[in-house]
Amino acid sequence: MPADTATTTAMGTKPSYLGLLNAISNAESAAGVYLEAWADVTPSADLACTLRLVAARERSHGEVFCRRIAELGYSLRKKPDPRGSAQLARLADPAISDLEKIGPRGEGAADPFAEIRRRISDGEFDVMTVNLMNWYITEEKDSAQRLREAYDCVREMSGGKRKAQASSDGGASADAEAIMACMTAGFARLEKSLDKLVKASK
Ligand SMILES: [Fe+2]
Repeated sequence: MPADTATTTAMGTKPSYLGLLNAISNAESAAGVYLEAWADVTPSADLACTLRLVAARERSHGEVFCRRIAELGYSLRKKPDPRGSAQLARLADPAISDLEKIGPRGEGAADPFAEIRRRISDGEFDVMTVNLMNWYITEEKDSAQRLREAYDCVREMSGGKRKAQASSDGGASADAEAIMACMTAGFARLEKSLDKLVKASK
């Protein structure tokens, strides 16, 4: 599709957020693979169900952001994650327990979508991309909540100590925490990519 058919982007200019869309698509597609691999080996039917639901969303996000890039007249640049194979091997290893994969509940993290929200507020995105971003963020938050609950079940089944500690941690940023814990290191790298994009655009 030629660039001039893209919806309400600047006239013929390359969208400033193309790299962001690319980073999200790559990270989400990778997360879908990781979570599905984990679902295939977990002994917990409940966790597997949640992982598959979120994995399906992640794959969908990867595809839809790829489509949006195409709608804007560009092509997704696939960037293999250099640590992806190790991450996948770990999550696909049935000898590593779910508890180890989940890890301890950490301190609350900052809202991982704050930067995207700011850019929406700044009017940086075209209207279709804004719509996409809002849908994406809503699903991500719901996915994170589902994962958080599934993780808590795993912790509870594994003993009360971690559960008690989790309760004392507070839940101010549970969504972000769950994303960071489970949406793989891919999302952390997405955050770094966002930082680079922001700096590059200034
Ligand atoms: Fe995601």
